Amino acid sequence: MKVSLNEILQIAENKNIAIGAFNVPNLESLMAVIEAAEETNSPVIIQHAEVHNHLIPLEIIGPIMIDFAHRAKVPVAVHLDHGTSFNTCTKAMQMGFSSIMYDGSAHNMNDNIKNTQEIVKIAHSLGIQVEAELGSIATSSIGGGEGRTPKSLTPENLYTQPKDAFDFYIQTKVDALAISFGTVHGVYLTEPQLNLNLVQEVKQLVNIPLVMHGGSGVSEKDYHLSITNGIRKINYYTYMNRAGANFIKDLDTHDNLFFDDISIQGKESMKKNVIKAINMFSKK
Ligand code: 13P
Repeated sequence: MKVSLNEILQIAENKNIAIGAFNVPNLESLMAVIEAAEETNSPVIIQHAEVHNHLIPLEIIGPIMIDFAHRAKVPVAVHLDHGTSFNTCTKAMQMGFSSIMYDGSAHNMNDNIKNTQEIVKIAHSLGIQVEAELGSIATSSIGGGEGRTPKSLTPENLYTQPKDAFDFYIQTKVDALAISFGTVHGVYLTEPQLNLNLVQEVKQLVNIPLVMHGGSGVSEKDYHLSITNGIRKINYYTYMNRAGANFIKDLDTHDNLFFDDISIQGKESMKKNVIKAINMFSKK
């Protein structure tokens, strides 16, 4: 059943878990995520990232995601990931998405606040929740096109500053906040070093659900510590995307391979990967 982001994050809060938010830029990944959620009887967030419009436009995948959410046997929130323009955000709202992420992290703090305030005003009048990002969740050089890499990576412009998070929240009243504390989008080139104290500090100042972006490749221990400190939504895509292709390496022969085989086997491989992620996020 389709639910709001608030409802799904409340489940996470009550159970002290995080809900997996998976990007679904094709039918195979969409089916993989919904089936994984139903098999584990877990709530889930399906999301479309604006940067995936070249794979499938929001206008096409959006209504299909909403239809899948309505049919699902578990609670499903339909979310826009990294909407950077008003146009994309309002389009997702008109379509009936549960929630949107307005990513104003490329702007200075004042402009980010101003834009987010406007988006929140429209969204809340429609019963839609808003996630925002503060700090810059960078993109590794392999995969993970959802973020952007600031020109100079210093802790000041990369990591979320707790005081900024507080000021931002007070002025925007967003429903969830993505913070930068050491994760990156895409494949990690070196082992992630998470600043878990930062998560705790922000959570104490801003008592709303916090979001981890760049969830692929974080250790099980770090997922659990992040959740304990206040992370309630974990964005995850790169490793599931890889799993959907890696099965090809294990085939004895590539002769007589048809696209249908890739579609079916790729979906199954992604589903296994998503089940593993959901279980880690919910400590099963
Ligand atoms: P990964 O692709 O690194 O798992 O991150 C996904 C994400 O953060 C989407 O916003």
